[in-house]
Amino acid sequence: MKSTLRIAVLGSGTGSNFAAILDAIRSGTLHAEVTLALTDEPASTFLTLAQSHHLPTAVIDCGPHPLRTTEASQQAIHDHLLAARPDVIVLAGFMRILKDPSLTAFADRIVNVHPSLLPHFKGRHAVRDALASGQTTTGCTVHLVIPEIDAGRILAQAPVPILPTDTESTLHTRIKQTEHTLLPQVLSTWPTP
Ligand code: GRF
Repeated sequence: MKSTLRIAVLGSGTGSNFAAILDAIRSGTLHAEVTLALTDEPASTFLTLAQSHHLPTAVIDCGPHPLRTTEASQQAIHDHLLAARPDVIVLAGFMRILKDPSLTAFADRIVNVHPSLLPHFKGRHAVRDALASGQTTTGCTVHLVIPEIDAGRILAQAPVPILPTDTESTLHTRIKQTEHTLLPQVLSTWPTP
């Protein structure tokens, strides 16, 4: 029998992708357990969700600057990850840039979900940029995390139409719905040791 996949999830926001992972575990389509839910946002729904499921949590103070994360907080994140012994680490709306020592220690075991069809529309404003581009299709990507942002090997992608009536919010909501299927699918095929 396949052993249980150990997943560490990092998030900062609403946690809808985290919820999709938990739903997939509950329904049995994903044979996994969440061994850590780590956040930099103590007021996030992500954290509330983890707490309501009685999961191991960690809140890391990454400092006031949204883009600069101190070496000490990278080390604190790493210490929690090591203790959680994950087979795979999921960045599910984690707004900080994960760096070493975790990137090297967990190379090829960190995935990110991004709201565009990479390599198109990298960065924080992927949905806004897709909408502004005038294209009629965007989508979402699950990819490996490497030091270069949104550039690691693509594991899965799914398209999402851009409707003439879309706002950034409506488009992002529909992209997330697609992410909620794609991300658990990728995790369900992840090899266990
Ligand atoms: C998702 O759109 C994901 O692609 C991006 O951040 C968003 C997280 O949403 N990286 P949620 O917190 O999972 O609802």
